[in-house]
Amino acid sequence: MTAIPSSLGPPHVVNIEDLRRLAQRRLPRSVFDYLDGGAEDECTLRENPRAFNDIWFRPRNAVALGDCDLRARVAGQQLAFPAILAPVGYSRMMHPEGELAAARAAGDMGTVYALSTISGHKLEKVKAASKGPVWYQLYLVGGRGAAEAGIERARKAGYSALVFTIDTPVAGMRERDPRNGMKQMLGGSLAAKLPFLPNILAHPRWLAAFLADGGMPQLENIVIPGQGPMKLVDVSAALAETAVSWNDLKWIRNIWNGLILVKGVLTGDDARRAIDEGAAGVIVSNHGGRQLDTVYAAIRALPEVVAAVGGRTEVLMDGGIRRGSDIVKAICLGARAVLVGRAYAYGMAAAGYPGIMRALEILRTDVERTLRLLGCPSISALDASYVDSPPQWRR
Ligand SMILES: Cc1cc2nc3c(=O)[nH]c(=O)nc-3n(C[C@H](O)[C@H](O)[C@H](O)COP(=O)(O)O)c2cc1C
Repeated sequence: MTAIPSSLGPPHVVNIEDLRRLAQRRLPRSVFDYLDGGAEDECTLRENPRAFNDIWFRPRNAVALGDCDLRARVAGQQLAFPAILAPVGYSRMMHPEGELAAARAAGDMGTVYALSTISGHKLEKVKAASKGPVWYQLYLVGGRGAAEAGIERARKAGYSALVFTIDTPVAGMRERDPRNGMKQMLGGSLAAKLPFLPNILAHPRWLAAFLADGGMPQLENIVIPGQGPMKLVDVSAALAETAVSWNDLKWIRNIWNGLILVKGVLTGDDARRAIDEGAAGVIVSNHGGRQLDTVYAAIRALPEVVAAVGGRTEVLMDGGIRRGSDIVKAICLGARAVLVGRAYAYGMAAAGYPGIMRALEILRTDVERTLRLLGCPSISALDASYVDSPPQWRR
């Protein structure tokens, strides 16, 4: 484990928002806004973290506690810490180490990394970078042939679960991206890129690292039969061509014997359907507010899904987690663990591996402090009696 440099400690970095600011400073606007932004009016993007403020704690004071136990059992594995690193596409564009750094940090923290299909490092190397379990998030980009090859590679490399994302029949309308010329930057002619170049040149640290890494990475894990790895530029169109359905999940179950988690569930009905189709767990998620705008905050959708599942399978959630107390609240409302996306990606974009470790350290310290302040000895002892949440959230 590398020591975290003092530039990532206090007074510079005290919370996740501080890492966000560092990421904003290091990245060109197009890349930062791709990471930071959401769909349309960004209502859901804003509501995801805000909705945690509608949940209020009910502590038990004057409780003498020894060490708090932060462990959680998820998908058959014991995690040292109940926050999993969510799949974040294009991580290698944010930092050359990208997915390798995230996998390594997750392993060092005793938790899971979920690798996105939209990744710039080969999945075998990513698995080898972690000393812990790694999951593979599956899009059918490139068609079933490419997906089957990816699943087979993931199986051989030792991935312990597939995450099947169901909320992306098309990419959401993230309005910051066309304004910043994201498409032109990814694949346009030099003339098309020209208006956006001054902002890139104004971020020399990012640019030097990007060029030293060989420029725009290919999508190493979407290998189209007879063609080779897909170019970055093709992804949005390819997503729309490969909208997934429950039939695809049946097909995947036939070629993958391991666990499957369905990500992007927001209603009790979809949760029941996922279980009927053999999911080992569901992830309540609105894709971090990047897909359908004005869907509920993920934490607000959690109680309905937990009630519908009725203990038949594990429920995870993601969206808006910026503090350890958010993690604790989600677990009180019935999540087994959470996934964090931007919280670690800001750290990754700011400083690679040490930045991710700093993000995870902040969250872990927060969780431990929150448990102590609640008078609760362990993650597994958390339940709804520690919080008050709006009654209309429970269906
Ligand atoms: C930049 C970025 C890229 C993402 N790429 C993917 C992806 O490739 N596949 C996927 O299932 N989810 C993807 N997500 C969604 C995350 O896995 C997760 O659901 C979301 O980030 C959680 O919200 P949070 O960022 O507020 O923690 C992405 C999110 C971000 C911010």
